[in-house]
Amino acid sequence: MIGATPGSAGVQTYGRGLEGLVAGETAISAIDGVRGHLLVRGHPLEQLVQRSFEEVSHLVLFGALPDADRLRRWSAELERFSEPPAPALAALQRVPGTAHPLALYRTMLTVAACIAPSVEQESDPAWSRPARILSWSASLAAAAIRHLAGQAPVPAASAPPGHAQRFLFQTLGRLPSPEEARAFEVSLVVQVEHGLHAAALAALTVISTGADLGSAVLAGMGALSGIRHGGANQLAFEMLAHLPDVDSARRFAREALARHQRIPGFGHRVYKCPDPRVALLEPHAVALLRARGLEQRHEVYRALRDEVERALGPRGIFANVDSITGLVYHPLGLPPSAFPIPFCLAIQTGWMAHCLEYLPHGAMIEPGAVYVGPVN
Ligand code: COA
Repeated sequence: MIGATPGSAGVQTYGRGLEGLVAGETAISAIDGVRGHLLVRGHPLEQLVQRSFEEVSHLVLFGALPDADRLRRWSAELERFSEPPAPALAALQRVPGTAHPLALYRTMLTVAACIAPSVEQESDPAWSRPARILSWSASLAAAAIRHLAGQAPVPAASAPPGHAQRFLFQTLGRLPSPEEARAFEVSLVVQVEHGLHAAALAALTVISTGADLGSAVLAGMGALSGIRHGGANQLAFEMLAHLPDVDSARRFAREALARHQRIPGFGHRVYKCPDPRVALLEPHAVALLRARGLEQRHEVYRALRDEVERALGPRGIFANVDSITGLVYHPLGLPPSAFPIPFCLAIQTGWMAHCLEYLPHGAMIEPGAVYVGPVN
């Protein structure tokens, strides 16, 4: 739709939900929603899943894979901030226990962000700000998840090296197996960046006003929490968990489709083809489920997916990444209500990269609206 508002400078374009409009230029990632490819800083995602979160987060944030020295220093910087400020952990006790874990974690990060400016050192390298947010985030998120089960936070000091391992150790209170750590790390890598989706745009809008990086990430978290966005992985898993076998999965899908019900974990604004992140995570999900004797859950997932894609695939609706992350997180021991958290831990890397890319020249984002009300 194209319209002009009274008194506006000229013709303005409008797409429902801003669909079809571009909000900026980026050298961070490119999504081919027809062929199902994701390029991150020019690297196909299929190649990046071989790498660690440290390597890929460095690539996303700073534009290049690190050499051995940069990798050592970036990893050390992430580790340096793995112990979050005590007032942020203490905030956990003051938020109602009934709050969603993502809200708990967001509240703790808000408190931490209030403290950040006072701990900024002039001598800190430029990468300290994103490192601080990524590492505080992981420790605070682990504490929020443990709080759900009435468990105390696990200090980062005793955790094994590595961002993914550290988060799992602080969440589970035990050393993850190599398979668990690898599966979780792959889940971080495949969700580390995804262009200017709703949450990234929320973060970018905030940074464009001259606000700080912490505020931008908090805005992204709010946008991500919705059930059409990062909240979908919890709903997708809860739906699966109610389906005892393949036959009930097929029946449920047929009935839901007949009712025109929106099925969580399916459909995407950009991908009109299978989401490449699903295929990259699937072998890891299968391995974890098999190790716990839960492989039937994967069969149920496949039956549901086949049924939905057979019906909706011709309309460009396929399983998205949120359909499958729960099959990694659940066998790791995370409760379904916590599933949006690891998604947030990963993708906030991309939000910060977009903010840092935009900051030097970007104008304040203020698109306006087409006026459709009366003129009296
Ligand atoms: N199940 C069933 N139908 C779906 C669907 C789903 N998951 N996703 C979209 N559709 C249908 C809509 O009902 C609508 O049908 P209609 O034209 O007959 O009314 C049509 O597809 C277009 O839907 P729309 O919401 O306009 O598409 P979009 O591109 O804006 O939607 C999502 C993208 C992600 C919001 C949407 O697919 C969705 O809500 N998916 C479920 C939540 C989810 O998994 N989110 C995570 C995304 S990574």
